[in-house]
Amino acid sequence: MDVEDINTIAVLGAGNMGHGIAEVAALAGYEVNLRDIKEEFVQNGYEQIEWSLDKLAEKDQISEAEAESSLDRVTPLVDFEEAVSDADFVVEAVPEKMDIKKDVYGELEEYASDEAVFATNTSSLSITELSEVTERPERFCGMHFFNPPVRMQLVEVISGAHTDDEVLDLTEDLAEEMGKTPVRVRKDSPGFIVNRILVPLMNEAAWMVESGDYTIEEVDSATKFDMGLPMGSFELADQVGIDVGYHVLDYMHEVLGDAYEPCPLLAQKVEEEKLGKKTGEGFYDYE
Ligand code: CAA
Repeated sequence: MDVEDINTIAVLGAGNMGHGIAEVAALAGYEVNLRDIKEEFVQNGYEQIEWSLDKLAEKDQISEAEAESSLDRVTPLVDFEEAVSDADFVVEAVPEKMDIKKDVYGELEEYASDEAVFATNTSSLSITELSEVTERPERFCGMHFFNPPVRMQLVEVISGAHTDDEVLDLTEDLAEEMGKTPVRVRKDSPGFIVNRILVPLMNEAAWMVESGDYTIEEVDSATKFDMGLPMGSFELADQVGIDVGYHVLDYMHEVLGDAYEPCPLLAQKVEEEKLGKKTGEGFYDYE
């Protein structure tokens, strides 16, 4: 399959990443089936796309007509079969838990066409392990976007142990069609390249505050103003979703060892469901 053969993209999961990926795909001219398990979740994702497209149009980054036609290309769906049966390419962006993702791939294999490529937006989990629950491990790879997808340029294209080179080439071409810059990740290791560096940074910031030696504001001003990063570590955790960072760390801890032990401060936020911008409160208040 060449990138020109891709017309319809199914995006599974309409959360923070899923709706953002669907928006990017629709802006690039693809028909997009956006699917989540509940009407309420998929509608929320759809409304976020509408909000984001309006924002881009307001700032003249796209025209009103482009915003409208992009939104028209997104079909919000709950029915799994309807969402995936005509898809040439599937991007899965469901919660960052191995069991949930494996269940989704079981169902996906049942309804997707034999030719479709499966790409996971996992932030850390093993591409090889996920690919092995499907009957097409050679047509399976990682396609990892960054939050918020519409603003972030990078996409990691990750090879599993069985992925065909043509599938990696195709996925890179697709990322480029979406206006992104792909980087190929040859080693399927926890966190790949970016999260292996970025998530421990957020964790270290949390341990510094946990120790009582620093405040959130002190750490964030130092990272933002002195280190020159676009956001403070805690602002970034709120942007990404504290639960996402926590699950990535938990997996890295399990596979790579104690250096990646998640800070209890993160666990506490997850328990309290104060997950960042998406819930209105995390380390900062967004209400
Ligand atoms: N669509 C449209 N507009 C959006 C938007 C979206 N999805 N998200 C934010 N905006 C808008 C805001 O509403 C705001 O609009 P107003 O100016 O009207 O209030 C504006 O964009 C924000 O712009 P700012 O001028 O405040 O900020 P900026 O343009 O300088 O940059 C940013 C914003 C691109 C998010 C920047 O802060 C940044 O790069 N932050 C770091 C993000 C990052 O590192 N992401 C990767 C995280 S790791 C990850 O995602 C991987 C993983 O698996 C965990």
